[in-house]
Amino acid sequence: MHIEHISLKDFRNYGRLDLDVGPSVNIVYGNNAQGKTNLIEAINICSSVTGHRTSRDRDLIRFGSDGYEIRMTCFDEEYKSETELFAGFYVSDNGISSSGSVRRVLKHDGMKIDRISDYIGICNTVIFAPEDLNLIKGAPSGRRKFFNLMISKISPSYYDILSRTNRLINQKNASLKELKGDVYSINDTVFDFWDFSLSDLSAEMILMRYRFALLLAEKAKAHHGRISSGKEDLEITYNTVTGVNELLGRFFDEETKLHAFMDGSLSEANLSVLRHDLSEHLLAKFRQTRKTDVMKGISTTGIHRDDLEIKLGGLPMRLYSSQGQQRSAALSLKLSELDMIRDITGSSPVLLLDDVFSELDATRRKSLLESIRDAQIFVTCTDKDDAGMNISPDLMDTDKDIRFFHVESGSIISG
Ligand SMILES: Nc1ncnc2c1ncn2[C@@H]1O[C@H](COP(=O)(O)OP(=O)(O)OP(=O)(O)O)[C@@H](O)[C@H]1O
Ligand SMILES: [Mg+2]
Repeated sequence: MHIEHISLKDFRNYGRLDLDVGPSVNIVYGNNAQGKTNLIEAINICSSVTGHRTSRDRDLIRFGSDGYEIRMTCFDEEYKSETELFAGFYVSDNGISSSGSVRRVLKHDGMKIDRISDYIGICNTVIFAPEDLNLIKGAPSGRRKFFNLMISKISPSYYDILSRTNRLINQKNASLKELKGDVYSINDTVFDFWDFSLSDLSAEMILMRYRFALLLAEKAKAHHGRISSGKEDLEITYNTVTGVNELLGRFFDEETKLHAFMDGSLSEANLSVLRHDLSEHLLAKFRQTRKTDVMKGISTTGIHRDDLEIKLGGLPMRLYSSQGQQRSAALSLKLSELDMIRDITGSSPVLLLDDVFSELDATRRKSLLESIRDAQIFVTCTDKDDAGMNISPDLMDTDKDIRFFHVESGSIISG
């Protein structure tokens, strides 16, 4: 799938934009603060609904307007047909307060889409941006966001289960808060009601997260090994509710069983045993922590606390690694996301490269370029004449169809 045309209305500093883009390399250049990242962000949001810079959609609405609209016409190489995506977001108060009512509209080929899970994955993108470093340095929530979105792009049902689980956790949290720490007023029947459903849904989530964490770990280890010329060993492990990793370890005591699970060929009989064991374990944990939860007024145990632990040579990267090592690991994670989307969905995602090449040394640039192959890419830089230097001389191969777009104050003024 690649993008043919992009239109924007009142998105960030763009009033109106209508742009035909090329199927190969699109270089977006211009001075600082002109709208290069904004264009990349718009493409990312029209593809994945969730953005990389802000989780507040109202930040994306052009100041003083009451909604943004992004439209992309994409071409599906497999079916040789065009498809149109539309993402709109509207507020009732010119974006001034955060209390006004909001409305999101998603459309696929003109048809309204009610569930985000039916929208994500139609035209996938992978974005490489300076913020990626937070995957290594930042809080668990950033890694969860990356991981959740990555799995949703590959497996849309995941997004549904995630939304249902989050809804349930929020409802349970509201009940916990209402008790105001009064452990004597706990109604176990009510909490069992939440926890039965929550343990089933969480078991399903853990199965999916565990599988994707194993796949991600394998790929990221290989990428990082290559980037560091085999000198460094990157380890990613999935951290979840206490005792779950031990349970999974016992279940997957044979390599063949684990590999079958990773490639999606483990029998349904095996999976349902595992799902059942996980669910029982989780229910016991939820009951065990119920009193603490009431005292704290929040669910202290659950998959909403999951994280990906990232280590280099056995040490947590967040605390011990150099800036360069962290950059390599972040790049390895994103390259692995790209590989997984390509391998599992069979379709190459559109690559969005914002301010990345300038930060990478020759080895890391090479790794990125090797992964790009024939994907459609959008890449930003400040100076057209230096594009070769700023981006990469290899990317400027004469046989590639390279298009230039000059951005100035939220308009494309020339090619
Ligand atoms: N909601 C909004 N409405 C109007 N303008 C906005 C909005 N959000 C951001 N901007 C403006 O967009 C501009 C930044 O655009 P962008 O981040 O795309 O810059 P850039 O071209 O990528 O610059 P750099 O080279 O520094 O990365 C800023 O001038 C900012 O004020
Ligand atoms: Mg920018």
